[in-house]
Amino acid sequence: MDITFLLNGEVVSLTGISPTTTLLDWLRETKHLTGTKEGCNEGDCGACSVMIRDDAGHRALNGCILFLPQINGKSVTTVEGLSAPDGTLHPVQQTMIDHHGSQCGFCTPGFAVTMATAHLNGATDHDTQLAGNLCRCTGYAPIIRAAEAAENHPVPRHLKTLQLPNGQKSSGGPAQPDGGRQPPQHIQPTTTDELARWYAAHPDATLIAGATDVGLWVTKQFRDLGATAFLNQLTDLRGITDAGDHWHIGAMTTVTEIESHFAPHHPSLATMLRRYGSTQVRNAATIGGNIANGSPIGDGPPALIAMGATLHLRQGNSRRSLPLEEFFIDYGKQDRAPGEFVEAITIPKQADTLRCYKLSKRFDQDISAVCGCINLTREDDNITDARIAFGGMAGTPKRAAQTEAALVNQPFTERTFRTAMQKIAEDFQPLSDMRASASYRLQTAQNMVLRYFFDIQGVDTDVQAVSA
Ligand SMILES: Cc1cc2nc3c(=O)[nH]c(=O)nc-3n(C[C@H](O)[C@H](O)[C@H](O)COP(=O)(O)OP(=O)(O)OC[C@H]3O[C@@H](n4cnc5c(N)ncnc54)[C@H](O)[C@@H]3O)c2cc1C
Ligand code: FES
Ligand code: FES
Repeated sequence: MDITFLLNGEVVSLTGISPTTTLLDWLRETKHLTGTKEGCNEGDCGACSVMIRDDAGHRALNGCILFLPQINGKSVTTVEGLSAPDGTLHPVQQTMIDHHGSQCGFCTPGFAVTMATAHLNGATDHDTQLAGNLCRCTGYAPIIRAAEAAENHPVPRHLKTLQLPNGQKSSGGPAQPDGGRQPPQHIQPTTTDELARWYAAHPDATLIAGATDVGLWVTKQFRDLGATAFLNQLTDLRGITDAGDHWHIGAMTTVTEIESHFAPHHPSLATMLRRYGSTQVRNAATIGGNIANGSPIGDGPPALIAMGATLHLRQGNSRRSLPLEEFFIDYGKQDRAPGEFVEAITIPKQADTLRCYKLSKRFDQDISAVCGCINLTREDDNITDARIAFGGMAGTPKRAAQTEAALVNQPFTERTFRTAMQKIAEDFQPLSDMRASASYRLQTAQNMVLRYFFDIQGVDTDVQAVSA
C-alpha cells in the first residue's frame, strides 16, 4: 500500500508498506523517533500516545494499535513535535517540569502528548483525559497539577496551524494498492458501495475499523490478517443523524462521538461510556466494531439492546435489518454471513428511562465483569414495558427475559423489583473467571435491578466513595 501523511509538520509518502505495520513500530524502528514508547503494546498504558489531526479535529490515539493505513491523509504529532521549532517547550512540557510530574520518565512522553491534545481541544477534565496514561512512579497528583497549570497558556502556533497533507482531505485519498508489487488484497475504500463490492468478492478478508481489537490480533497474537479492508475513510459510514423518530448511527461512529451525542439525551449511557477503555481507546473504537466482534463483555450492545436498537447489515447490494439482540446467536457466533458487514444501527428516540451500570475491578480502563442496562416504561405507576440487557452474564450480550416478564404489568413498587430481581437466576447461569465469580455476577446483576428502582426516582445510588 502507498500512503501519505504529515509527521510533525513534514510530508511523508510511503510506498509498499505492509498494511499491518503499526505506527509505533514504524516511528521507533524506521524513523528512530524513540520518544514514543512501547509499554504494553495493547492499548492499555498510553506510553505510545500520538496526536492525530484530521477533518474531525485533534485526538489522542495509541500508536501501538494504529496501523499505518489508518493515518493516511492525516497529520501525526509525536512527542518530538510538541516543542516549537525554536526549541521552546510546549506549555505542558514546561508545567510537567515545574510541578515535578516525571520521575523515571518512561510514561512522560505519552502523558505530554495526551495533555497537549487535551490542551489544544480546551479539555480540562484531566482525570478523564489522562485515564489511559499509566504512571508507575510519580503518582498522578503532580501530573494533574501540571495539566491544570497549563490550562491558561495559549496553544503554540505550530500546533494550531498544522495543515493536512497538501491537497488531500483527511477523509479522502485512499491508500493506493502497491502498483502491481502486491496483489490488491488490501484496500482503503472511500465509499460504502466500494467496500460492499470488494467484501462480497473477498468474504474472508479482515475488516479493520478502529483496530482496538484487531490491533491486538497482530501485536499480541502475531496473526496474519490475510486480505484487509481499512474502513476509516468511509465518511458515509460515520456519524449520527436525526432521522425523525430515531437516531441513525453509522458503523464507523466512534465511542467518543456516541458518548458526546447521547450525553444530553441519555446521561447514564454517557456516564457508562466514559468508563469504556480510555480516551485514546474511545477515540478509535467504533460502534460497528464493538457489535461485530460479538464479545459477551462489550459495553455497547447491552445499552443499545435496552434502548431497542435495530442493526442494519449489508452484503453486496442487499440489506437487512434485525433487532440487535438477535444478532448475537451464541458465544463467538453472530448472525452475519460471509461478505456481510455492519452498516448502521438505529435507535428509537425515547424518554430517558435508561440506566447503565458498569461493574469492573478498576474504575477506569477496564473491561466489565458485569454490565447491566435497564430501560422501563411506566404508565400511572404501572410498568408497561421492560428492556433489560446484560453483558458478562452469558456467552453473548443477552436480554433478561424472565426478569422483564416479572416486571411488566406490575405496579412500580420496591416489592415488584425485589420479586423480579430473583428471576435473574433463571435468566442467566454466568461463568466464574478472572474478572468475577458466578455467584458475584448473579448477585450484582440482581442488585442492579433493585438499584434501578431507587435510581430512577432520583435516590443517590452511586456509592463511589473515592474522590480526588
Ligand atoms: C485497552 C482497551 C480497552 C478496552 N476497553 C473496552 C471497554 O471498556 N468496553 C468495551 O466494550 N470494549 C473495550 N475494548 C474493546 C474494543 O475497544 C471494542 O471491542 C471496540 O469497540 C472495537 O471497535 P473497533 O472499531 O476498534 O474494531 P476493530 O478492532 O477494527 O474490529 C473488531 C472486529 O469487528 C469487525 N468489524 C469492524 N467493523 C465492522 C463492520 N462495520 N462490519 C463488520 N465487521 C466489522 C472486525 O473485522 C473485527 O472482527 C477495549 C480495547 C482495548 C484495546
Ligand atoms: S504501548 Fe501501551 S498503550 Fe500503546
Ligand atoms: S515517571 Fe516512571 S512510569 Fe511515570
